[in-house]
Amino acid sequence: MRVLVTGGAGYIGAHTSRLLAERGDYVLVVDDLVTGSRERIPELPVVSFNIANGSAAQLESLLREHRIDAVIHFAAQKQVAESGQKPAWYYEQNVGSVAQLLLAMEAAAVHKLVFSSSAAVYGEASGAIAEDAPTHPINPYGATKLVGEQLISASSLAWPLRAASLRYFNVGGAGSPELGDTQALNLIPICFKQIAANMPPLIYGDDYDTVDGTCVRDYVHVSDVAEAHLAVLNALPEQPGNTVLNIGTGVGTSVRQMVDAILQVSGSNLTAAVLDRRAGDPAAIVGVVDSILELTGWSARYTVSDIVESAWVSRQHFESLSVRSWRDELRSE
Ligand SMILES: NC(=O)c1ccc[n+]([C@@H]2O[C@H](COP(=O)([O-])OP(=O)(O)OC[C@H]3O[C@@H](n4cnc5c(N)ncnc54)[C@H](O)[C@@H]3O)[C@@H](O)[C@H]2O)c1
Repeated sequence: MRVLVTGGAGYIGAHTSRLLAERGDYVLVVDDLVTGSRERIPELPVVSFNIANGSAAQLESLLREHRIDAVIHFAAQKQVAESGQKPAWYYEQNVGSVAQLLLAMEAAAVHKLVFSSSAAVYGEASGAIAEDAPTHPINPYGATKLVGEQLISASSLAWPLRAASLRYFNVGGAGSPELGDTQALNLIPICFKQIAANMPPLIYGDDYDTVDGTCVRDYVHVSDVAEAHLAVLNALPEQPGNTVLNIGTGVGTSVRQMVDAILQVSGSNLTAAVLDRRAGDPAAIVGVVDSILELTGWSARYTVSDIVESAWVSRQHFESLSVRSWRDELRSE
């Protein structure tokens, strides 16, 4: 297959691009390289521009020139708090990107699309969540993902688009050290950052009705997420439509259990500090993942320990690089 991957230099996109290339697919990455890095995918062609505004013609020529069969669309802004501060910009970037891409795909007659959605579309829903659960996002980020899904569904009624929207739960870990997440936006990298500063990892609320009182989430290894994309690309239904699929493990892990695993792997003697609950945090949210299993045979293979350990190894890798570049700078002075 010949696949265009938007956001292919990012954390999840690079894992997926590399897997596609390893199985022999042709991969073209489009990425503005603002949060992504070319160093994650040195072996792949990267065309660098922001796709959110007026990019449809440029995307269309790339689709034609590279004879692309399918698109995987990762490129997006993903900071929940920032989306509350800059809602219009989040809609412009995240919904704009989907619109430009769909215009280009329709014009170039590329009919297969896999879209990165998010469990954020479920908002404050609690418990085991299947794809038909109500969608009530509680922040602009989640709302942009839901609108993206709706735009894709509407397009699949207008032209023969065969799409899937994948609602990821909590993605973590690294398939190899250099591919790890370099942004501290999720529990694991945030805890590593606290520990590095000799500050206690923070737990928001320990009085929920859960196994140990802390919130429960569904943590899925990024390599599993990447494999899910390949499985879905292979299994897209023949009929036009937008198949919505949860990507998780179906297993819940409490924040306390994660924090303990993180403290252990990092060899830290710190103890977590418990603060008040945060607004909008559901007690427990775990994906029901039967649909993707039925459609593709995919299910997650990695454990929570694999996630925490590989994230730690990746963090060590990036720290050694920054120490090295700091030493090089001193030497060159
Ligand atoms: N990481 C998670 O836990 C998680 C969970 C749910 C959903 N998602 C979604 O998965 C996707 C990938 O997330 P990630 O964690 O790899 O993030 P990331 O920031 O590492 O990757 C996003 C990539 O897209 C690029 N990009 C962003 N906007 C662009 C634009 N308008 N034009 C061109 N390039 C652009 C960035 O430079 C980056 O390389 C996103 O759509 C995100 O919303 C991520």
